[in-house]
Amino acid sequence: MADESWRLPNSVQQLAANMQEPPSQYLLREQELLGANLAGAEMPEPVPTIDLGLLSASNDPEEAAKLRSALQTWGFFQVSNHGMEASMMDSVFTASREFFQLPLEEKKKCSNLIDGKHFQVEGYGNDQVRTQDQRLDWSDRLHLRVEPEGGRNLDHWPTHPKSFRDDLHEYALKCKGIRDDILRAMPKILKLDADCLVNQFNSNAPTFARFNHFPPCPRPDLVLGIKPHADFPALTVLLMDNDVAGLQYLRDGTWYNVPAACDHTLLINIGLTMEIMTNGIFTGPMHRVVTNADKERISVAMFYGVDPEQEIGPMAHLLSEEQPAQYRKMKAKDLLVLHHEHYAGGRGPRIADTLKI
Ligand code: OGA
Ligand code: NI
Repeated sequence: MADESWRLPNSVQQLAANMQEPPSQYLLREQELLGANLAGAEMPEPVPTIDLGLLSASNDPEEAAKLRSALQTWGFFQVSNHGMEASMMDSVFTASREFFQLPLEEKKKCSNLIDGKHFQVEGYGNDQVRTQDQRLDWSDRLHLRVEPEGGRNLDHWPTHPKSFRDDLHEYALKCKGIRDDILRAMPKILKLDADCLVNQFNSNAPTFARFNHFPPCPRPDLVLGIKPHADFPALTVLLMDNDVAGLQYLRDGTWYNVPAACDHTLLINIGLTMEIMTNGIFTGPMHRVVTNADKERISVAMFYGVDPEQEIGPMAHLLSEEQPAQYRKMKAKDLLVLHHEHYAGGRGPRIADTLKI
């Protein structure tokens, strides 16, 4: 039988602890490094920060203008005054760190490999390795379905640290409120009914939490923590490390560094689903994570998608003879398959551009 061992990814944490040089599957090829500028550029302006309390309570025109501008330029922004307590954010972050600090054998109790070899979406581990020349990410992660609540698969939910499950439950409740505040603010700047986006999320709409752990990497000049991609779901809410930066966004061909989180803000970005629903008025930005030679980094992303059985297409109220639909309609679950295939290779254009009519 052919040697298929390459299909089983390593724990990056273990590689980082035991190796001087990352194995070749993690190293960007010469061609991929051309123009990649892993060091990134400084953003020409501070990260757009929206006062969500002000925006939601009074539809403040200044905040609405900032939101519009952020969505049409960067595709991401930070929210302050979002109503989530700083202590809750700190608890989730600390629980995540404590989980990743557990011995590998303990974390493997939540493994995303069935019988040690069959990949599934949920659990602790790494991306599926589809081809022998796939570039691998320098990160380990825990991926959990959080909503609908009845769809939680608690077998994958850590029991250590003890507070993990409760912390995630509480965090998810608050985060959903923040998601809804943002989803109601966005249509207003398009002069649409405030509920038209929220209404796209039925009781089967999935929320996934993804806890990312980026161990220190001996070759930050050659290795990425997460390869370039645009997020698939409608909206991502990201809780970032206060101390270690690493996230970069692409704008007009340049990769820009996002500074480490400060003042308990949350970072929000638009995904492919939202781009299609808004007929491209808002675009899902390409982003990636670079590695750090000395410090580990942790992030927690909440991904808000629509029902997999739902057709995703530009919203009817946005279309007219002058503004025809730019994207084909497709079931969310079919689009997700295309999305995974598209980004596994690690290069190429945004998938959204390939879906245009
Ligand atoms: C992701 C992602 C960014 C980060 O998980 O999709 O882009 O800063 N994470 O970890
Ligand atoms: Ni992402």
